[in-house]
Amino acid sequence: MPEAGLWDRIAGMGAEKSLIERRLVLPLENPEVAGHYQLVPPRAVVLFGPPGTGKTTFARAVASRLRWPFLEVLPFQLADDAHGVAAALRRLFAPVEHLDEVVLFFDEAEEIASERQDPTTLAHRVTKELLKLILQFRRGERRLLICATNVVRSLDPAFLRPGRFDYLIPVGPPRTPRPERPSGSGTQGPTGPTGSTFPRWSRPATASPPRTSSTRPAPPPRPPSSGTSRRIRQTLRTPAG
Ligand SMILES: Nc1ncnc2c1ncn2[C@@H]1O[C@H](COP(=O)(O)OP(=O)(O)OP(=O)(O)O)[C@@H](O)[C@H]1O
Ligand SMILES: [Mg+2]
Repeated sequence: MPEAGLWDRIAGMGAEKSLIERRLVLPLENPEVAGHYQLVPPRAVVLFGPPGTGKTTFARAVASRLRWPFLEVLPFQLADDAHGVAAALRRLFAPVEHLDEVVLFFDEAEEIASERQDPTTLAHRVTKELLKLILQFRRGERRLLICATNVVRSLDPAFLRPGRFDYLIPVGPPRTPRPERPSGSGTQGPTGPTGSTFPRWSRPATASPPRTSSTRPAPPPRPPSSGTSRRIRQTLRTPAG
């Protein structure tokens, strides 16, 4: 169970907090109120943004707000399963089916849900299995799957079709105050023509159905492959506290 009060310890990130509270926490906390307004509480969402901007922290904080158990899956640990990654995924999801409520968190989701280039590859089979498991997972009412990624465009498009994820939510980078510029300066500052401190690919936090193009900004440059990132291993752990 995640530590209490985690939500309140998230500093800044007001837009993300407000969005995640309205779209995830409140409908899941108050399904009858959501039903009254014909809102279907979300079952699965993607958080995307640069490293270190708080995706994992937000996922834990959502579980903390809901007081639901939090299970975190690190995909680089899936590869060690003697029966293969798809079998490891099935084994991971099986006990979740029996939990009354849970936030299941997949970090570095692109490692197991990346674009299926070749239908004969192992990656293709793993992606197919995960898609099947997500559909099954969505049948539970008090369950939320959160996938986090730094490179949302590398996710297999099949994951982004309707019926899989309810929202793609950008997280960060943190806003910084607009720097003062000398008056009369007619040139563009380093932050671009509008003075925005966002890099071109990022957007203020807004949620909309995954298929809309507004939710598919170009990703940041892909970080160099760490070597371990190609290996897929799996773990299931609960955060401290
Ligand atoms: N808004 C915030 N308020 C307080 N602490 C934060 C905030 N955002 C991030 N942190 C802290 O920064 C560290 C990195 O955050 P976190 O692991 O949640 O980022 P991430 O987006 O999941 O990174 P990665 O993409 O590398 O997985 C953590 O120690 C977390 O507690
Ligand atoms: Mg993380």
